Amino acid sequence: MKRAVIFDLDGVLVHTDKIHYAVWVELTEKLGIPFSPQVMDRVRGMSRMDSLEVVLSAGDRTWTQAEKESLAKEKNRAYVARAGKMTSADVEEDVWRTLDALRARGVLLAVGSSSKNAPLILERTGLGEKLDALADGNMIQRAKPDPEVFLRAAGLLGVAPGEAYVVEDAEAGIRAALDGGFTPVAFGGSAAASPLAAHRIDRLSQLTALF
Ligand code: BG6
Ligand code: MG
Repeated sequence: MKRAVIFDLDGVLVHTDKIHYAVWVELTEKLGIPFSPQVMDRVRGMSRMDSLEVVLSAGDRTWTQAEKESLAKEKNRAYVARAGKMTSADVEEDVWRTLDALRARGVLLAVGSSSKNAPLILERTGLGEKLDALADGNMIQRAKPDPEVFLRAAGLLGVAPGEAYVVEDAEAGIRAALDGGFTPVAFGGSAAASPLAAHRIDRLSQLTALF
């Protein structure tokens, strides 16, 4: 029996995937490296540094560790400048309705995100008030496709992996959920085409029918 939902954040509860995308476009244009929605789909759910490695690998030069760290900082500064301006109006009505409907049914709710900016986004949008737990990029050693962040979220909720759905827009997140023993639900992004997803939804509110 399921009694919890662990949501990915970027691209599931909020459209911050679009901000990540816009910032990667700016950075790669400046560096003269090709970037595309396909590369974005590959880095969905990955940590900041893992994403940067993939993005830079499309170019024809190598970068020192210090250069990579400086680029990661630059990318994050640009991201925070935009994402830090988000408000509750940036969360779709369907998301608020879904969280309220699940809470009313007694379902436990958490976020499991690779992002180190997850606390900022949850605070700016007010989404944090609807959640029972948060596991994010600041709390883990291994990012998706490793299941660590979801196992951490389940531990904080006090549920076993088999008792929770994981909702993801990233193929890496679907794989992480499956490897951790969770039931993966694909919601858009690169997850939508994943053969590993147990369920596919195109509106978050379709989740309520699973309880
Ligand atoms: C994931 C996003 O949620 O967080 C990735 O899907 C992003 O695109 C990653 O790179 C890390 O985020 P941050 O905010 O720590 O740079
Ligand atoms: Mg995501």
